[in-house]
Amino acid sequence: MDDPRHVPVLVEEVLRYLAPERGGWFADCTVGLGGHAAALLAAAPQARLIGIDRDPQALAAARRRLAPFGARAVLVEGRFSDLPQLLAAQGVGRVAGILADLGLSSLQLAQAERGFAFALDGPLDMRMDGPGDVGGRTAAQIVNRDSEDDLTRLFRTFGEERQARRIARAIVEARRQRPIETTAQLRALVEQVKSRPPGGRRRIHPATQVFQALRIAVNRELDELQALMKNAAEQLEQDGRMVMISYHSLEDRIVKNALRDLATGTVDPVTGRPHSESRVIEVLTRKPVRPRAEEVAANPRARSARLRAGRRL
Ligand SMILES: C[S@@+](CC[C@H](N)C(=O)[O-])C[C@H]1O[C@@H](n2cnc3c(N)ncnc32)[C@H](O)[C@@H]1O
Repeated sequence: MDDPRHVPVLVEEVLRYLAPERGGWFADCTVGLGGHAAALLAAAPQARLIGIDRDPQALAAARRRLAPFGARAVLVEGRFSDLPQLLAAQGVGRVAGILADLGLSSLQLAQAERGFAFALDGPLDMRMDGPGDVGGRTAAQIVNRDSEDDLTRLFRTFGEERQARRIARAIVEARRQRPIETTAQLRALVEQVKSRPPGGRRRIHPATQVFQALRIAVNRELDELQALMKNAAEQLEQDGRMVMISYHSLEDRIVKNALRDLATGTVDPVTGRPHSESRVIEVLTRKPVRPRAEEVAANPRARSARLRAGRRL
C-alpha cells in the first residue's frame, strides 16, 4: 500500500522556512504519507509534530512511516479547516510552525478505485475522505446530476477550462444514453469533445482541467484552504512560521492574497491606510519558490509546486 515512489516536494526549502530547529510543536496539515513530517522530525530532535489528514488511508501510511519517532509524532484524522479545534483536542494551543502541502498524494493518485487519475480506469469517486464522507458528493454524482449550466460554471471556475460549455453539453447528452460512472468514460468523452489548441501541441492531457475541477468541487478544496488561511496566523506563536505549497493557480492565489492581507494589516476606513500595528505576518517569500530543474526531473509531481512562507510577528 505504501507507495515507495512518493517523494516529498521542496523538502530543503520547507525545512529552511519552517526552521524546526527552534523546537516546539509543528502542525503538518497534510501529513499524507509522512514524507515532509519524517524529514522535519529527523532534522530537529527538539521538534514535535501533529500530523493531520482527511484521508484515513494516508494516515495509516503516515503512522507506519513515523513510528520510529514515537511520541514525537501525533496523528489526527480531520480537515485542516478545523485546525484550531484539532490542535485544542490534543491540548496544543499555538504552534511553532504550520505546513500545508496541498493536492493529492501519490498513494491517492496510484489507486484506480479512488477515481482521481484519468490515466487509470476506476469509479468516478474522488472523495479524499474516502467512503466515510457520507455527507459529500462523489464526482459521479456531480457529473450525472448537475445541470449543463452548473457543470459549465464548475469546469470554468475550478478548472479554468476554456471549452467548459462544450464539455458540459457533451456530458449531458452522453448521460441520457447511460450514466457516466468511470474515469475512463469521462476521459474518453473529454478527449472526443476538446478541439486541439491552435498550433496543435498540448502541454497537458485534455482531461486534466475537468478532473481538477471535479476534485476541487467534491472536496471543497478552495473553501478548505480559505478557512486554513483565515485561522493559521492565529495558531502561530510569535516568530512561528507557515509554509504553504500549492499546485495550481487557484490555490496559489488564495495563499498569496491571504499572506498579503495578513502582512498589510487592517485598513483604516477613513484614511485608507493600513494600521501597521495590526500586521500579523511578515512574508518571507517575495516570489513563490519553485523547485529546481533537477528536482522536477527526479519527481514530476514537483513540476507545478509553488511555495510561499510567512513569519508571525
Ligand atoms: C500532497 S499530499 C501530502 C504529502 C506529504 N506532504 C508527504 O510528504 O507525504 C496532500 C495530502 O493532504 C490531504 N488533504 C488535502 N486536503 C485536506 C484537508 N482539507 N484537510 C486535511 N487533509 C487534506 C490529502 O488527503 C493528502 O493526503
